[in-house]
Amino acid sequence: MFLLATVCFVLRFTGSSLAAFEVSVPQRRVLAVRGRPVVLGCSYAPSLGNNLEKLVVTWQTAEDNLVLHSFYFGRDQLDKQNARYRNRTSMFHPLLGTGNASLRLDRVGPQDSGRYLCSVDSLLGNGKAEVQLEYAAFYTEPKLNIQVHPSNISLQYQSEGYPAPQVQWTDSAGCNLTAREELSGPGEDGLLSLRTSVTLKDPGPGVNLSFTLRNAALGQVLERPVCLSLAPCDPVNGTRVTIPVICVLCLLCLVLAAILCVQRKRIGRQRG
Ligand SMILES: *[C@@H]1O[C@H](CO)[C@@H](O)[C@H](O)[C@H]1NC(C)=O
Ligand SMILES: *[C@@H]1O[C@H](CO)[C@@H](O)[C@H](O)[C@H]1NC(C)=O
Ligand SMILES: *[C@@H]1O[C@H](CO)[C@@H](O)[C@H](O)[C@H]1NC(C)=O
Ligand SMILES: *[C@@H]1O[C@H](CO)[C@@H](O)[C@H](O)[C@H]1NC(C)=O
Ligand SMILES: *[C@@H]1O[C@H](CO)[C@@H](O)[C@H](O)[C@H]1NC(C)=O
Repeated sequence: MFLLATVCFVLRFTGSSLAAFEVSVPQRRVLAVRGRPVVLGCSYAPSLGNNLEKLVVTWQTAEDNLVLHSFYFGRDQLDKQNARYRNRTSMFHPLLGTGNASLRLDRVGPQDSGRYLCSVDSLLGNGKAEVQLEYAAFYTEPKLNIQVHPSNISLQYQSEGYPAPQVQWTDSAGCNLTAREELSGPGEDGLLSLRTSVTLKDPGPGVNLSFTLRNAALGQVLERPVCLSLAPCDPVNGTRVTIPVICVLCLLCLVLAAILCVQRKRIGRQRG
């Protein structure tokens, strides 16, 4: 009887069930986009009639074992949760028993980039799987600032996003221009702040160039042509600066005409 029990015990724990228990992640790298919740996927093979009472799931950072979320005794256990993750994590409870141990993380920021471990302990065995999170934010519409000096013109674009972008300024012939580039942050909002400018000495009758910002993580490309001229200039979707210039010229003409008019009247009165 004792022997039989031992054989059963050995069979149970060396049998296929223990060897087959596996924890896996559908994606080894997950991209988290600012403003959207991210799901760190993790699944395990559920046993028949899996009992949530006997299930332990823990999500931790791989580097320093900070706890993001734990589940055991049939419910969330957040006593050991690190403060960084407070009110930001949740599991899909109705799906837990079916082998879905994924974690949802809200309000992601740059500090969330890193490796995470999903550990599952069930009646059938235990296992771990690792997933890497990368954070990115779309760059905002670049704001143009133009400074006209007697000897040069300076054009500056400002935009915010994450991570560091690739910036390119090209002239009308498609050649790269030398640009200044300043990147600061990220701030509380999880965005890097970019300022980039080119200065053109002796720009001549006009400026015709193009600014391109690329965020490789998100495949985002922002291309903005800039066309500045005193002569009529018709860029496709370009930034138009000609209309204000023409307005100023018209205004000058009007003022000049008014002065001439007044002077002519005065001369006429003096004669008369
Ligand atoms: C778990 O369920 C959530 C919500 O339906 C889903 O987004 C996620 O992809 C699932 N994960 C796995 C590993 O099946
Ligand atoms: C989490 O939410 C609770 C209840 O809504 C709130 O009292 C607490 O201050 C929040 N904690 C953090 C760190 O945001
Ligand atoms: C552009 O002109 C201004 C004023 O003339 C001058 O202060 C500035 O240094 C010039 N910039 C460059 C890059 O030459
Ligand atoms: C500006 O440059 C682009 C690209 O080289 C060209 O297609 C366009 O005609 C130019 N515009 C003007 C006003 O010169
Ligand atoms: C211009 O610069 C970009 C990146 O800044 C680079 O990929 C490209 O090869 C350069 N083109 C030329 C013609 O130098």
